[in-house]
Amino acid sequence: MKDRTRLIHAGGGARSPLVKTVGPPIQKGSTVLLPNAAALYDEANHLTYGREGLAAHDALRVALGEMEGAVGVSLYPSGLAALTGALLALLKAGDEVLAADSLYKPTRRFCDKVLTRFGMTVRYYDPLATPETLVGEAGPAVRLILMESPGSLTFEMQDMTRIAELARARGILTACDNTWGAGYLYKPLAHGVDLSIQALTKYVGGHSDVFMGSAAASDPELARKLSEGVLHLGWAVSPEDAYQMLRGLRTLPTRLAQHGESGLAIAEWLRAQPEVAALHHPALPGAVGYDLWKRDFSGACGLFAFALKPGAKAGPDAFLDALQLFGLGFSWGGFESLAISCDPQLRGRAFFRDYGGPLIRLHVGLEDPEDLKADLRRALDAYASHLG
Ligand SMILES: Cc1ncc(COP(=O)(O)O)c(C=O)c1O
Repeated sequence: MKDRTRLIHAGGGARSPLVKTVGPPIQKGSTVLLPNAAALYDEANHLTYGREGLAAHDALRVALGEMEGAVGVSLYPSGLAALTGALLALLKAGDEVLAADSLYKPTRRFCDKVLTRFGMTVRYYDPLATPETLVGEAGPAVRLILMESPGSLTFEMQDMTRIAELARARGILTACDNTWGAGYLYKPLAHGVDLSIQALTKYVGGHSDVFMGSAAASDPELARKLSEGVLHLGWAVSPEDAYQMLRGLRTLPTRLAQHGESGLAIAEWLRAQPEVAALHHPALPGAVGYDLWKRDFSGACGLFAFALKPGAKAGPDAFLDALQLFGLGFSWGGFESLAISCDPQLRGRAFFRDYGGPLIRLHVGLEDPEDLKADLRRALDAYASHLG
């Protein structure tokens, strides 16, 4: 053989059987080489192309399935893609979706801009509506109820168990964005919810450096539709990213325990500060939704909001700009603490209510909580001069 041929095939016959490592091999491949001609079109042979996922993807799907109590888990290139992909896989023109008004805003944007373009209708419901009202008022076209509990930015809790029970009796599917519960603190499928969707980007990844999402189902037919949906849309995630997510999963409980403990300690401390009007944290005793959280969740993560006492317009930005340890960023779930102001994002909501004052969302990271309190105190001092 000439060198140029030799180089195409060189190394392929190396005698290096895969040794067993703690993590799965990061297999890279678009092409899957099949053993013989019959295997090319063998219906029973599910893996004929790398886009369907290789060793690391498989390991991650199995691990997430065990955590979520699912028969099938599909992976998506981001958390938002998991939400949009699951909706596209299950809905058709003419269907109506009931979506929580407290939904993650880009999910809402997809519902409004894309689902409607394909002949679906979306109606937003008050996240504090009772399950009886919500499902009772659902018309015959309603195919799916999309929940997020606690809700984005405002942290309302919904009785997802009861909503799922009532919806099932009406033949309506239920799905929830379970990024706050991370598939660990809350297990939607065990509570009768049909789909558990999450941005693995947040707590499972845990280091603010990888995007991915998952959708899990315990009904085999739903799980099949989800994975077909990914196939039809042509989405794939990289094996390196799948490996990273699996690595994050190993320490998820340990990290979440610390995020939850520090978050609650800081929320309690904030409640006693004179510049603070209200806390929005479902795991804080006395909070609206506390009973539902206590009933259904095994713990809390580090994400919550609080309202500053109303003051001058420039106050919330002065508060944020005075922070030194909390970064200003729209994400959460990583090891680092983050803060944002929320009000600009709440304007499009149908059921806007009085949250007590300008809302600040905090993600409490893994730093020492006493240092974080000192940082917040410094920012509250900066805010105090904006109070009348
Ligand atoms: C509640 C919630 N769901 C979904 C997402 C989307 O995740 P991703 O950034 O991976 O698309 C986010 C991101 O902030 C989120 O907060």
